[in-house]
Amino acid sequence: MGSLSSKLKLINKPVGLDIENHKDFDKRISFKKINAIQYLGNNKKKFDLILIKQTIHLFNLKDIKKILTYAYSSLEVGGIILILTLDTKDNEIPTFSLMKQKLNQSFKRDSLIWKKLLKLNIKKSTASFNFKVNIKKNVYLKMIKQRYISTLLNFNSLQISNGINEINLNYKKNILFNDKLKCIIFTKL
Ligand SMILES: C[S@@+](CC[C@H](N)C(=O)[O-])C[C@H]1O[C@@H](n2cnc3c(N)ncnc32)[C@H](O)[C@@H]1O
Repeated sequence: MGSLSSKLKLINKPVGLDIENHKDFDKRISFKKINAIQYLGNNKKKFDLILIKQTIHLFNLKDIKKILTYAYSSLEVGGIILILTLDTKDNEIPTFSLMKQKLNQSFKRDSLIWKKLLKLNIKKSTASFNFKVNIKKNVYLKMIKQRYISTLLNFNSLQISNGINEINLNYKKNILFNDKLKCIIFTKL
């Protein structure tokens, strides 16, 4: 977002929200450690773009309604809400067996959320993105150890270390895959 802000020579600094503190945030972003619902619920500013990337699945349906209502009110006319989330179809994320099982379970919930979003009575369009990833296996294993994806957050140390062994056996030194995201764009009329 920081580099995009420079590239587009944005007049106002983009605001970035997260409930967790991020020490390594880009200085071109005005970072706030706050719950997005709380921030948008009290917000008086108007935005051209509100980007919710790989986060919508962490909210329950009631909170999704809330965040979208507040986000919509925080948009300029013609402004957009862009929601990016993992594509649940033919997902290529490198996994070990337990991780794949849990990921597929969470995809069922994600699909339900997606269907609800598509039914909303707001002007919308959809898009898909494919990012070609080439990552060294040892780097990916570190990410697994750090539980880089929410699916891994509830795994205990033994499950993580078994998973690391499994990935070590089943993948080559360089892991190549397509990181597939789908996107829904809501426009304020
Ligand atoms: C999977 S990460 C995605 C981070 C980033 N958007 C990206 O795409 O790289 C999900 C992030 O959402 C944050 N998060 C979860 N609930 C939130 C909330 N209610 N308000 C703001 N951030 C939240 C988490 O702390 C986490 O950093």
